Amino acid sequence: MSNSGRCRAVVAVSGGGSNLQAFIDAVDAGQLHLELAAVVSNRADAYGLQRASAAGIDNLCVASRGVRDRDEYDRQLAAAIDHYAPDLILLAGFMRILGKDFVEHFAGRILNIHPSLLPKFPGLDTHERALAAGEKEHGCTVHFVTEQLDGGPAISQGRVPVRVDDDGASLAQRVLAVEHKIYPHAAALFAAGRIRCRDGKAYLDSKPLEKPLNFSS
Ligand code: GRF
Repeated sequence: MSNSGRCRAVVAVSGGGSNLQAFIDAVDAGQLHLELAAVVSNRADAYGLQRASAAGIDNLCVASRGVRDRDEYDRQLAAAIDHYAPDLILLAGFMRILGKDFVEHFAGRILNIHPSLLPKFPGLDTHERALAAGEKEHGCTVHFVTEQLDGGPAISQGRVPVRVDDDGASLAQRVLAVEHKIYPHAAALFAAGRIRCRDGKAYLDSKPLEKPLNFSS
């Protein structure tokens, strides 16, 4: 916790950082009681770093380019994050798979948002795959990060109907709008101490969360 008693978060981005912006806006609006301690990226050109600068948040690049050994990169990233002593790490479009040691080091403190209704469509190209599969409904999932890629316990899901004229881009846009609602909401639950992960299970108010919280657009 910070001196102000707020939960301290580090946000990790690789790209545009619209989810980061949703956190910044929610904090500014008093809807998310979190201290955004720092933003870290594996890419120096990530627009998310500029969003952080504009908001006066410490930001840094831990470049993944040129670091061949995945574990070595994870160690560099963990050291940079540890410097900020965060209670919470929010992966927001961070396009790297984090290894066992990293995940164990921050066990129960890492959240991610994934653009599908997990366990459907882990991995990449989720919108295109949902369309190809003829899904009537698609969406996004906030989950705790474990060693299993996109496989940690889910906290919340946002659903959007798939339209007959959707393509990957139109569907992605509607899902992203829902991401900007459910991710700050889940972060707020964590910051309030209401959501926790123990023994590979998510708990809400100390009770096992049998299914993810559900939001429909
Ligand atoms: C989002 O669709 C998120 O679900 C995925 O990466 C994208 C990041 O978008 N993990 P942004 O950088 O937050 O705009």
